[in-house]
Amino acid sequence: MLATIAALALVATSAAALGAADPPQMIHIALAGNDGDGNPNAMAISWNTNNQTNTSVCQYSTDASLRGANVTVGTQSSYYATWQHHAVTHALKYSTQYFYRCGDSFAGFSGVFNFTTSGGPSQESITVLQVGDMGVYNSWDNRQLIDQLAPSADMLMWSGDICYADDAFLHDPLGFGYELTWDVCQTWLENVTTSTPFMTAPGNHEAECHSPACLLDEHRKESLHNFSAYTHRFRMPSAESLPSPGTLNQWYSYTMGPVRFIHHDSETSYPNSPNDSYTGLNNGPFGDQLAWVKSALEFANTPEERAKHPWVIVTAHRPLYSLAECEDDGQQRGSGAVMSAAFEDLYYQNNVDVHISGHVHAYERQHPVYRNKLTADAPTYIVSGAGGNSENHSHLGHKPGALWSAYSNDEDFGIGIFTVTRSSFEWKYLRGAGGAVLDSVTLTK
Ligand SMILES: *[C@@H]1O[C@H](CO)[C@@H](O)[C@H](O)[C@H]1NC(C)=O
Ligand SMILES: *[C@@H]1O[C@H](CO)[C@@H](O)[C@H](O)[C@H]1NC(C)=O
Ligand SMILES: *[C@@H]1O[C@H](CO)[C@@H](O)[C@H](O)[C@H]1NC(C)=O
Ligand SMILES: *[C@@H]1O[C@H](CO)[C@@H](O)[C@H](O)[C@H]1NC(C)=O
Ligand SMILES: *[C@@H]1O[C@H](CO)[C@@H](O)[C@H](O)[C@H]1NC(C)=O
Ligand SMILES: *[C@@H]1O[C@H](CO)[C@@H](O)[C@H](O)[C@H]1NC(C)=O
Ligand SMILES: *[C@@H]1O[C@H](CO)[C@@H](O)[C@H](O)[C@H]1NC(C)=O
Ligand SMILES: *[C@@H]1O[C@H](CO)[C@@H](O)[C@H](O)[C@H]1NC(C)=O
Repeated sequence: MLATIAALALVATSAAALGAADPPQMIHIALAGNDGDGNPNAMAISWNTNNQTNTSVCQYSTDASLRGANVTVGTQSSYYATWQHHAVTHALKYSTQYFYRCGDSFAGFSGVFNFTTSGGPSQESITVLQVGDMGVYNSWDNRQLIDQLAPSADMLMWSGDICYADDAFLHDPLGFGYELTWDVCQTWLENVTTSTPFMTAPGNHEAECHSPACLLDEHRKESLHNFSAYTHRFRMPSAESLPSPGTLNQWYSYTMGPVRFIHHDSETSYPNSPNDSYTGLNNGPFGDQLAWVKSALEFANTPEERAKHPWVIVTAHRPLYSLAECEDDGQQRGSGAVMSAAFEDLYYQNNVDVHISGHVHAYERQHPVYRNKLTADAPTYIVSGAGGNSENHSHLGHKPGALWSAYSNDEDFGIGIFTVTRSSFEWKYLRGAGGAVLDSVTLTK
């Protein structure tokens, strides 16, 4: 893996050395738009350039030669050195393959990529790949499995801790590897993210740069705190969320076929939230998250919405229930207890079906549980944070009183994959090395 990182870094450097040529790098797409009923009907295309460019344009067409392509003009911004661009297409047709390229006529265009839009609200079945806590170390097997499975998935859900840029100093204690790690990792993911929508949630590793090279440099410390890389590098469908807009990439909602997804922030902006501040500058708050999550869940749970999207799936980085965060008798502690105090009643009262988190570098599935008691109509909590990163595995320990624990594994790296129809949710947890199914569960309605 080290060899790969060095090779990618070399590619990034030689592209910059070409001078004027500064074509898009790290291209990634995300669901966007709203058909009026909350269903994404467009695509956000995002990329990075070394310098500011005159325009941020994407051309897209159902024709591979891009003849008669439609054009969308996006925006660009910079939080530190490089520039981040986002362009959203106009309304697209469902279940249709589109070809696109992005860039600027002076700085240069990308090659032509393609994606296929989802079937929208009438899609019978969706398949989602899920990963948590993945960086560029210890993740090679998972990366290969993602490569293999992405072509048959409708999207890639990433439940926080994306790339581990803030851990770069573990490999180079005095160097400044934060931005390079983001770049290398996003480049590494590019051949998946150009065609599979990449839907994120913030994790603690997105909060700030806290390496020695950042703490000792005011400019870096100021520029790279408060989720700035995460905010600028991604473009989630927040503005389009129903029943009211979400906030940046911190909390938002969208639908796909039989599912309404709610992604939210376990790091800041709720009572006793951890804030994740090593720099002392603090991060967030981003607004009244509790009020938004409440309204989003209540809306999702109305009979009209449930009729259209029977499943409500939430992802937020920190788990409510984890063997890593409970006493021997199963009583929650730490950030699990804080998350529960803030959100568990909202999830339960609004019949959230499944809650997926990461944060703990292991895999766990819990029996439906509410307030630490097995409760048949409570959400199923899944912890899937074994994406692989410099910090290796978490140790779960033996907690005999945690009756809610259905399965746990702190030895393998792996990713989740789930398929949802109107009547079933089928989850599998796969070992990165070889793809064996380590755990599975099917919920039905
Ligand atoms: C891009 O920026 C780099 C460093 O910031 C600079 O050396 C280079 O000349 C710039 N290229 C262009 C085309 O402006
Ligand atoms: C361009 O967009 C319009 C309206 O959104 C659509 O009717 C047309 O088919 C699109 N053209 C191509 C080549 O995708
Ligand atoms: C675009 O930007 C470059 C330098 O950044 C400049 O030289 C050029 O004239 C600009 N205009 C056009 C239309 O490309
Ligand atoms: C569409 O994109 C996929 C994934 O990048 C690629 O494998 C495939 O060859 C592309 N299809 C066409 C027709 O270019
Ligand atoms: C995509 O990129 C990964 C990481 O660089 C590489 O291992 C894989 O072979 C690539 N896949 C394809 C289909 O090119
Ligand atoms: C998080 O920050 C807020 C606002 O600065 C503060 O009120 C709160 O006490 C902090 N939470 C923790 C756990 O430090
Ligand atoms: C972080 O960003 C949010 C949104 O722009 C802003 O409201 C908040 O004040 C920022 N917090 C800090 C500590 O800079
Ligand atoms: C990760 O931790 C396991 C024990 O949990 C150990 O066997 C393995 O060598 C570690 N791997 C790396 C790359 O640090």
